[in-house]
Amino acid sequence: MSLKRRSLNRLSYHSNNKQKIQKEILSWYDSFGRHDLPWQNRPIYEIWISEIMLQQTQVKTVKLFFRKFIKKFPNLEKLIHADLDEILEMWSGLGYYRRAKNIYAACRVIEEDYNSRFPTNFADIVKLPGIGRTTASAIATFSNNGHYSILDANVKRLLTRVYNINTIKKAESDKILWELSEDLLPQSRSSDFIQAYMDLGSIICKSNKPNCDGCPLSNLCITNTANLRINNHKPQSKVKKLIKEEKLWSLVIIDSHNNFYLEKISLGNLWSGLYSSPIFTSKAKLIEWAKSKNLVQFLTEKLYSFQHRLSHINFTIDAILCNVDEDKKISLIQDNWYNLSNITKGVPKYQNKIIDKFGRV
Ligand code: ADE
Repeated sequence: MSLKRRSLNRLSYHSNNKQKIQKEILSWYDSFGRHDLPWQNRPIYEIWISEIMLQQTQVKTVKLFFRKFIKKFPNLEKLIHADLDEILEMWSGLGYYRRAKNIYAACRVIEEDYNSRFPTNFADIVKLPGIGRTTASAIATFSNNGHYSILDANVKRLLTRVYNINTIKKAESDKILWELSEDLLPQSRSSDFIQAYMDLGSIICKSNKPNCDGCPLSNLCITNTANLRINNHKPQSKVKKLIKEEKLWSLVIIDSHNNFYLEKISLGNLWSGLYSSPIFTSKAKLIEWAKSKNLVQFLTEKLYSFQHRLSHINFTIDAILCNVDEDKKISLIQDNWYNLSNITKGVPKYQNKIIDKFGRV
């Protein structure tokens, strides 16, 4: 079928079914959607923090971190006065630390350009660091500052299936999907509608095993009704992600009172700004550093080799234990010691694995 023909078909299908689709999505949301998320019906500041956390993390995990973050920084004023280390501490374990750095950068813009108040119009929100079109739409719509639709991975998958969009070019399909997403958005209950979009996509129209029997759109979904499931129900990522293998060495320096020696990471971008046992890209560099600090005599045979997997890199980390005596800590920076019971800095997840392994509770 020609491209033009296909798009005419889709348009007529859309105009014939738009209202039914809207109605089904909203009534499904009333019965099965998420209504008690801790950031729902909260000030725009809290909505912003939640949407940044939700960019790369699932709702269940975000709930915990969100509560902790808001307890520490209950309002924008408190956050504006925080330094990056404090924000990273609250982000510790959530991953994708660039998000925390963007929050810090956004605070600087809000302070400078918006008189320390979170902007309420879409055009200003979307210009803040770390905020793209979907995040800006969610923040504006959830805070009742307009009606803007979204296109995250969930909505993409849902609309791709409902309208059976199999255009190969990403730019082309994104354009079609944005148009559909926007045109489906009702003016009333727009906030419920975008939440319903996300919930339906993540709870029912899952990537691997969509629950078509429980889907309110099962009779309206072209993929389902035309029995096209085989093609369009395949996981969306057709290109297998390339996972890089990398090796790191960490020197785990501990004294007899469970104090860990942690340094601010400057290695690469991934964890920069967080704190960790000294980490190196080769064993030779680790030994050289240990020599320069007179630590070689304290190196033990204890080695903990473990895997730490991120979305695109698989790290193998060799953690070498170095037990120092209380009176031999002289060559190390005094302020860098943190007791296991009170680590007041943000640490990457791999560091928690090291602490679990070597910390004596
Ligand atoms: N993903 C991004 N924002 C979300 C939200 N508000 N609820 C559920 N999933 C989301």
